[in-house]
Amino acid sequence: MPSVVIRFKDQIQRLTVRRGLGFQALCAEHETPIEFDCREADCGICIMHVVKGMEHLSPAVGEEKDFLKAMHADADERLACQCRIMGDVEVLIDEA
Ligand code: FES
Repeated sequence: MPSVVIRFKDQIQRLTVRRGLGFQALCAEHETPIEFDCREADCGICIMHVVKGMEHLSPAVGEEKDFLKAMHADADERLACQCRIMGDVEVLIDEA
């Protein structure tokens, strides 16, 4: 089972998840600092930095890919509402 580490401010949250679970479902099951609004790769509120394990997330395609390109996002940035967790990952959430 993949592990997910979520860093936010000085806190570290460690969760074990079912392979293929999306961050939306993960955050529905656990209280996390990741915020969602549109859930359709349109608002960007769920953006996160992938510190480790980018290769263990479902690839950015379609609307997420277009959004990240339009926002000139850094290579380590992904939209949590679009990602599925396929292996161990560590993400950093910026303070609002
Ligand atoms: S919740 Fe709006 S882009 Fe992810």
